[in-house]
Amino acid sequence: MKIALTVNGERRETDIWPGESLLYALRERLGLPGSKNACEQGECGSCSVLMDRSLVCACLVLAAQADGHELVTVEGLAVDGQLHPVQEAFAETGAVQCGFCTPGLIVATVDLLAQKREPSDDEIREALSGNLCRCTGYQKIFDAVRLAAARA
Ligand code: FES
Ligand code: FES
Repeated sequence: MKIALTVNGERRETDIWPGESLLYALRERLGLPGSKNACEQGECGSCSVLMDRSLVCACLVLAAQADGHELVTVEGLAVDGQLHPVQEAFAETGAVQCGFCTPGLIVATVDLLAQKREPSDDEIREALSGNLCRCTGYQKIFDAVRLAAARA
């Protein structure tokens, strides 16, 4: 079957198999490998994207469900080669080690700061509780979110 959707501001069409995930379609059919595939069970958050401005795990959404909808992936955050402020904050604070969790955490942070300009520590913990990182111990990720919030 064919689907048509808007991805990072661009109208895209692709053929899909009816049972495949949005994550698979983004990575393998639409050439957007920024959203990572780790658990495929909604447990790690590495595949986080915005669908109609709501944070979703792309591994839990069928590609067919995205037909006609608007997606933003980590690739869509930078503008004219300029990193998004959240991306800059992650880089500046050393919140990136292996980087596998980073796209999902950045998209989740963008979503958080769109809803709360000055989130409390508890709100940051709650917002990022679905994103697992096996490298950083989370402290530098917290620093990155606070820095991005301070600059917002
Ligand atoms: S790959 Fe989607 S939540 Fe882990
Ligand atoms: S930086 Fe490696 S999993 Fe988070």
